[in-house]
Amino acid sequence: MIPSLETPIFRFALFAALVLLIGTGAYARYLEPRVAGVAMFKRLHLFGGLLLIVGSLLDVGFTAARALGELTPYLYGAYLTRTWNGQWVMLRVVVAALLMWLALQPRAELKLIPRVSPVVLDRVLHVVLSGLLALTLSMTSHVGSRGEPLPIIGDWLHLTGMLVWVSAILYTALYKFQAPRDGVNVLERVSSLGVLAVGLLSLTGVYASLVRLWAPELLSVTQYGQTLVLKIALVAVTLVIASSNRFLWMPMLRRIPSRFPRFQRVLTLEAGMLSAVLIATSALGTTAPPERGAGLKQIIKFNETKNAVTLAGTANPTALGGVRLEFAITPNPAPDARVDVALDMSSHGMSAIPLTLERLGSNRYAANGFFGMTGDFDVVISSQNAAWRVTLPSR
Ligand code: HEM
Repeated sequence: MIPSLETPIFRFALFAALVLLIGTGAYARYLEPRVAGVAMFKRLHLFGGLLLIVGSLLDVGFTAARALGELTPYLYGAYLTRTWNGQWVMLRVVVAALLMWLALQPRAELKLIPRVSPVVLDRVLHVVLSGLLALTLSMTSHVGSRGEPLPIIGDWLHLTGMLVWVSAILYTALYKFQAPRDGVNVLERVSSLGVLAVGLLSLTGVYASLVRLWAPELLSVTQYGQTLVLKIALVAVTLVIASSNRFLWMPMLRRIPSRFPRFQRVLTLEAGMLSAVLIATSALGTTAPPERGAGLKQIIKFNETKNAVTLAGTANPTALGGVRLEFAITPNPAPDARVDVALDMSSHGMSAIPLTLERLGSNRYAANGFFGMTGDFDVVISSQNAAWRVTLPSR
């Protein structure tokens, strides 16, 4: 069973839009004011704002259609105004529009408060609006929808660390500095910011992982854990590239600044790896994490024949929570036949989670599943021309 792709794609679009909208503005204010005069940066800034607004509104439409089974203008409006997700998206749209109004460069005419200089006011507004915009993403992520205060703060700091690292690297790689020495000077500050961001991301990332996964086995037996392992592997490769940039390239650039344009091409590799980390994060943030304490209520036995094929087996509660399925299909499926198992949460408006199958014998299989929340789940097993649905009550 193929999981729905539209949610991770929307999540990735939102991360990219944040980097474009907030990142360009922060780069122009704190690292290189001259980017504010470059047409490409202005376009990236505006495109980021539009992507954030349109992407968020479309995301809500898809989510509402999946949860409600149909979508009319009335249902869309009701979802937007009455649900937790919809209300945070509305706030996100307003704040994104305000950041677009604040623009890429500080506004000289911002004399809204007497005796406060426009530059100070601009910076304060930029920081407050950017922080609020990042918060609207945290509030619609796993921690936000569960309303866990400390993990929400951790997630918000994690998102801020990502924005700092990705924006600093991406725009230093893209901008054509007037002289290589200017580029090296900006790079010194980018590098110090990068170290801070890596420290913040590691601390808050480990904390978020411990909140979501309470036993090491969950890293290998849940889809959430496997996606997290992939993400950490990508982060490790990115850190190797970043360390070589800091410890090998930077000392050389201090001596020979003329090599800076060549270094910018190396820097695009780090930006590319960071994009891969964000793609893995988009998959992670849209995969249901196991819910602590949610497990199968009692042992379930099943035996059902469809199209002359019989499925027989048991579903057992496991010590870690969730369920272990063991079943046999008779007559034996062909050796190359595909057998799929997925935990279906469609009644909760969430996409099905495919389970990894272990082969115990020629026609015997096992799979472990974890529940993303309490409530009744269906396990869907399919083989060749037969499909079965077994209801699993969870506590
Ligand atoms: C030690 C390394 C890291 C670990 C263990 C880690 C772990 C995590 C975890 C567990 C989440 C929560 C996902 C969820 O269920 O919603 C998360 C979210 C996230 N991570 Fe990481 N992460 C690490 C490094 C990074 C890096 C290097 C980046 C990007 C440069 C990054 C970007 C993000 C983003 C954007 C989110 C989503 C926040 C949100 O949607 O509110 N992470 N990370």
